[in-house]
Amino acid sequence: MELRINSFEEYQNKYRQSVEQPEAFWDEVAQNFSWQQPYDKVLDWNFDEPNIKWFVNGKLNITENALDRHLEKRGNKLALIWEPNDPKERFVRLTYRELYEKVNEFANALKAQGVKKGDRVIIYMPMIPELTIAVLACARIGAVHSVVFAGFSANAIADRIQDAQATMVITADGLNRGPKQVPLKRVVDEALEHCDTIEKVIVYNCLNWAPEMKAGRDIWWHDAIQGMEKVCPAEPMDSEDMLFILYTSGSTGKPKGVVHTCGGYMVYTAYSFQNVFQYRESDVYWCTADVGWITGHSYIVYGPLLSGATTLMFEGVPTYPDAGRFWQVCDKHGVNIFYTAPTAIRALMAAGDDHVLSYSLNSLRVLGSVGEPINEEAWKWYHLHVGKSKCPIVDTWWQTETGGIMLSGLGDLSPMRPAHAGLPLPGIQPVLLDQEGKTIEENEVEGYLCVKFPWPSMLRTTYGDHERCRVAYFSHYKGHYFTGDGAKRDENGLYRIIGRVDDVINVSGHRFGTAEIEQAINANAMVVESAVVGYPHDIKGQAIYAYVICQELPSDPDMMRAQIIETVTEQIGKIAKPEKIQFVSGLPKTRSGKIMRRILRKVAEGESDKLGDTSTLLDPTVVDEIVNGAL
Ligand code: PRX
Repeated sequence: MELRINSFEEYQNKYRQSVEQPEAFWDEVAQNFSWQQPYDKVLDWNFDEPNIKWFVNGKLNITENALDRHLEKRGNKLALIWEPNDPKERFVRLTYRELYEKVNEFANALKAQGVKKGDRVIIYMPMIPELTIAVLACARIGAVHSVVFAGFSANAIADRIQDAQATMVITADGLNRGPKQVPLKRVVDEALEHCDTIEKVIVYNCLNWAPEMKAGRDIWWHDAIQGMEKVCPAEPMDSEDMLFILYTSGSTGKPKGVVHTCGGYMVYTAYSFQNVFQYRESDVYWCTADVGWITGHSYIVYGPLLSGATTLMFEGVPTYPDAGRFWQVCDKHGVNIFYTAPTAIRALMAAGDDHVLSYSLNSLRVLGSVGEPINEEAWKWYHLHVGKSKCPIVDTWWQTETGGIMLSGLGDLSPMRPAHAGLPLPGIQPVLLDQEGKTIEENEVEGYLCVKFPWPSMLRTTYGDHERCRVAYFSHYKGHYFTGDGAKRDENGLYRIIGRVDDVINVSGHRFGTAEIEQAINANAMVVESAVVGYPHDIKGQAIYAYVICQELPSDPDMMRAQIIETVTEQIGKIAKPEKIQFVSGLPKTRSGKIMRRILRKVAEGESDKLGDTSTLLDPTVVDEIVNGAL
């Protein structure tokens, strides 16, 4: 399957064609996949309901495209390299044939446990090969996977299980993360105290921890696959059948279940993978994300495997046993394409240059960045010390909702400018809108980033609540998908993402809604009210600053802070913990009761001298107290 564009001129031609004749363009791309039954129409759409259908009435199974069809030519090629947390442990390599057999075997096990097409399966797993196997096994039998990042708390899992009405959880006894081991099964057990839809729990034995197994509900992975055939027929799926649900935060308190479907997601993840990274058949490709996020779904699992690539999966963290771990893994496995997040780059940069300079890194050809804006300093360090000034950096802008990369350079083909995501991929039609919703046509401008035409891997709905999808993404600007981001466009048409314009905070590339964190803080019995904002952080990009009103001002603020962090950890997970907590006696509110976050943001950013007009506040004196007590 050859989807790769080979020159900048070819990109320009393809881009033009994709805008002028989008259906013909995507029809040609889609011909590169195996369809059990051809589609009879490429696209049906409107952004008002919204109703989006790609490859209408086509039948396929994404795992036949990711596994079966490679067997003949690439059966003995490595599909997956797994590098463990501890460098002294053995790594694992699976060929396409071996991965095919493991996926089929586990798919049969899922069926034997009663899972059927359309059932929702929650996957809460370590970054081990079995996570990828579980995801693909669900897709094989048409079950809808919903992977929950293994850092989320029992409460967060329970919310997702209930929202998805899931019937199965796949988990492990625990996981390794750097020097720590973290329980997973115990967290699942706690979550399940509040869920009544789960019938079965499959547990992979990762750490030999012998967790409690509930009779009739819990079964070991190794027992579940006993005697299972290594061939399992691929369920015929409609192009628009659900492939997965992935929960992500928005501006309301409750995370949304973003729904992706089979046909369009398959076509776009493979197409974007091969083009953005300028993938070549013999490449070893490594994306350091976790499969619990969209980046892992699209660019550890589906995009690379659909392309017949060798994808590397890493169990550990960038700084264990030391800050040279990423570079050691690159040299060890001869990584050619390396895709990571700015937060990791900044953390490794802060650890000093010696680590990176100890490795040759001469296999690297293309570097990628994802998840948040990459600042120029980090960009330059990445380019110089990791890429040795010879590797292009693709700064890929996209979202859980977009399913695949939208704005990015294509390897070394495109013009590259630090901190700029660059140009749209073929088929992607971004626009910048002004306050009134008017399209800004010229360059050297700034506006709200929207997309005016559908692309194959876009979200179709939010699970169980289509209206929420319409309101969140399609109601701000008629006829447009609204991204929630602000962006600039330079004189050459390159886009630079400025950041979120809604109440979403991006901490180390992970999204949290301010309302979601406030709700978590308010769950502490001592807390009356809270308001949360993001502020710039050297390593994390943004960090969380919480203003909290307690029943009475705490006599031991540090102890109260620890308790609030504990509550947030219980409600969401450690990843959402506020960096700073300031106790206040009131919040700046308008006469209609709305919190003026603009003021709180300025104080958190250390710009208390630029608060602007505060005369519309109900009680302007609270501002002085907040400014004086700022951390
Ligand atoms: O604000 C943008 C930021 O991350 C948001 C999407 O978050 P999520 O759905 O968790 O997906 C992250 C991985 C695709 C966007 O709305 N973002 C993502 N990539 C970039 C970025 N901001 C700037 N530059 C990027 N390359």
